[in-house]
Amino acid sequence: MRIYIHIPFCASKCSYCSFASFTNKQKINEYFKALELDLSRFLPFSKDIKSIYFGGGTPSFIPAKYYENLFKLLKPFLNANCEISAEANPNSLSLEWLNIMRDYGLNRISLGVQSFNDEKLKFLNRSHSSLEALNQIALLKKEKINYSIDLIYGTFMDDLTMLNNELDVLKSLELNHLSAYTLILEENTPFANKIDYLQKNDELNCYFYEQINKIGLKAYEISNFASSSDYECSHNKAYWNKDDYIGIGLSSVGTSKNIRYYASSSLAEYINNPLKRSKEILSLDDIRLESIFLGLRSNVGVSLELIKDLSKLDDLKELIYIKNGRLFNKNYLLSDEIALFLE
Ligand SMILES: C[S@@+](CC[C@H](N)C(=O)[O-])C[C@H]1O[C@@H](n2cnc3c(N)ncnc32)[C@H](O)[C@@H]1O
Ligand code: SF4
Repeated sequence: MRIYIHIPFCASKCSYCSFASFTNKQKINEYFKALELDLSRFLPFSKDIKSIYFGGGTPSFIPAKYYENLFKLLKPFLNANCEISAEANPNSLSLEWLNIMRDYGLNRISLGVQSFNDEKLKFLNRSHSSLEALNQIALLKKEKINYSIDLIYGTFMDDLTMLNNELDVLKSLELNHLSAYTLILEENTPFANKIDYLQKNDELNCYFYEQINKIGLKAYEISNFASSSDYECSHNKAYWNKDDYIGIGLSSVGTSKNIRYYASSSLAEYINNPLKRSKEILSLDDIRLESIFLGLRSNVGVSLELIKDLSKLDDLKELIYIKNGRLFNKNYLLSDEIALFLE
C-alpha cells in the first residue's frame, strides 16, 4: 500500500502554483488532529506500507513535532524498506527539522529549487534565492540523506544561456534524482492564461530534457530523472503503474480498484469531517486510457493486453520496444502523441 499525506501550508504563494495551500498557519493544530483521525480510519486496511509521501504545500514549513503522532500511528504498518519522502522549501528546511524527521522515519527529501537564477525565481515569486537553495543542497549532501530537487523550465526566460547555466549547476551538484517540469499555466493562479510567460521555442525545451539525460540523469518519466534505477522514486512509480493508494488530508485523492476518492478542498470542512470523501467511479476504458498515457510517459510501460489494435505497433517500430508482454516508449517527449495514436 502507498499513502499520500497533504500538508496545505506555505510561507508564501508562488505565482504558478494551484496546489491547495494557505499562508495562515492558525489551524495547524486542528489540521494535524484531523489528519490523525483520517489516517487512523485507513490504517487497519493498510498492511505493508511501501511508500509514504508528505506533499504540499510545504511540509518543511511545519515544525517536526507536529508529525510525531502520524509517524507513531504509521509505524506498525510499515514495510522494512518503506520509502518516506517529504517536500521541503529552501527557506524553511533546517538541520533540526531534518534530524527530528529522520528519527521519526523520513528517508527522502524533495527540495523545491525551481531555478538557480535569481531573476527567474523572482518571476516565479519564490521566496528564496538560488544561494539559499545551494546551501540547503549542501546540507542534504552533508547529512547523507537521499534527496531530489525540483526545477521548472519552459518559461519565456529559458533561453539557451539560461538553460546552459541551469545545466552547469546541475552538473556540478552530481544529483541522484531530479524532477524538471515545464511551466503549466494553472487556472485560478496569477499565471492563468499568461501565454507570453511560456517558452515559444519547443526545441529549447527538448534541448534541456536531452542535456539532462547527457549529464547522467536518465529520464524514467517525462519529468523525472535518476542517476540509476536505485534512485527512482518508488512512490511515483506506483502512481504511474496505477497501483491503489490512500490519500490523506485536504484535497487529497486516493484510489481503490475502479473508485477514486476525493477529500474536501475546504479547510474548515476537512477539519470538521476528515473522513468525508466524494467518489468517482472509473469505467474500464477510463482506466485503460490512463494506464496507456502514464505507462508511455514512464519506464513503467503498458501491458499489451490494453492495446486494442496491435497492428498499429508496426508503424511505431522506431519509437517503441516490447519486453515481457509490455510496450515501452523510447522517447517520453513523444508519449502523448503515441498514446493518442494507440488509444
Ligand atoms: C507540490 S509542489 C511544491 C512543493 C514545495 N512546496 C515547493 O515549493 O517546492 C511540487 C512541485 O510541482 C512543481 N509545480 C507546481 N506547480 C507547477 C506549475 N504550474 N508548472 C510547473 N511545475 C509546477 C514545482 O516544481 C514544485 O516544486
Ligand atoms: S510551489 Fe510550493 S511553496 Fe510555492 S505555493 Fe506551491 S506548494 Fe507553496
